[in-house]
Amino acid sequence: MTEQVTAESVRRGRGVERLINGQFVMDGAGVKINRVLTQGLQRRLDPFLMLDAFGSDKPGDYIAGFPEHPHRGFETVSYMIKGSMRHRDSAGNEGLITDGGVQWMTAGRGVAHSEMPEQTDGLMEGFQLWLNLPAKDKMTAPWYRDIPSEAIPRFSTASGATVQVIAGASHGVAGAVQRDHTEPLYLDIELAANATFEQLLPPGHNAFIYVFRGQVLVDESCVAQSRMAILANNPDADGVRIVAAQPSRLILIAGRPLNEPIAQYGPFVMNTQDELRQAVEDFRAGTFSA
Ligand code: CO
Repeated sequence: MTEQVTAESVRRGRGVERLINGQFVMDGAGVKINRVLTQGLQRRLDPFLMLDAFGSDKPGDYIAGFPEHPHRGFETVSYMIKGSMRHRDSAGNEGLITDGGVQWMTAGRGVAHSEMPEQTDGLMEGFQLWLNLPAKDKMTAPWYRDIPSEAIPRFSTASGATVQVIAGASHGVAGAVQRDHTEPLYLDIELAANATFEQLLPPGHNAFIYVFRGQVLVDESCVAQSRMAILANNPDADGVRIVAAQPSRLILIAGRPLNEPIAQYGPFVMNTQDELRQAVEDFRAGTFSA
């Protein structure tokens, strides 16, 4: 069901601080990915550690998938726009994430999982976001939830926006997942040509958008398809105003920074080098997710 809401109004919108192109990388067993949020942006976009966008109708770009690999110290949020991927992990969870579905996994003290395509042709398109955990929760028990498309709260506005609320809340609609500390907001926003969408954002929260259809304007800056725009943290801005130059679709992600040290070694993200050494040791010793 799609709720109708009245538009929120932003008094002063944030501008675009920087446009990011992303880097094509191969990950997993050979999956072609556009890495949009790279390690160099982790401090600026705290609490977010990584955003990968993938989208291809060539099976060779995705068929190898992501065979078993570990994670510790953060959360992974996979959003499948189109396609099917099967997840299995060492905590005993298994699920199929498919068209429009989200999988939210808290690696906490440790999970080894595999993410393998369950299709041999056709389009596979989606995102994987890494959300950091506060130091006090890095060694928490693993947690996992599959959220099928129909379970994601959505609403539309009279100004031509249709919005899915994956995390946080927008226009009074609570999203599928809520988190203390990082207070993530994760919206999928579809806009008709010339439609406007306004979202209130706390000034201290770091925020960005990624446009995956069409092109939009943010405070008169153009953000083209396959571009990420980091939104400026102007202290006097209370949100963001997005105008579609043509039919468009984008994700808007924001969160409260943790302001804690970030130490990363591949799939482990902790606060110190010692904790990273411990993670590698635990994984090698096989005591990782016990
Ligand atoms: Co993974």
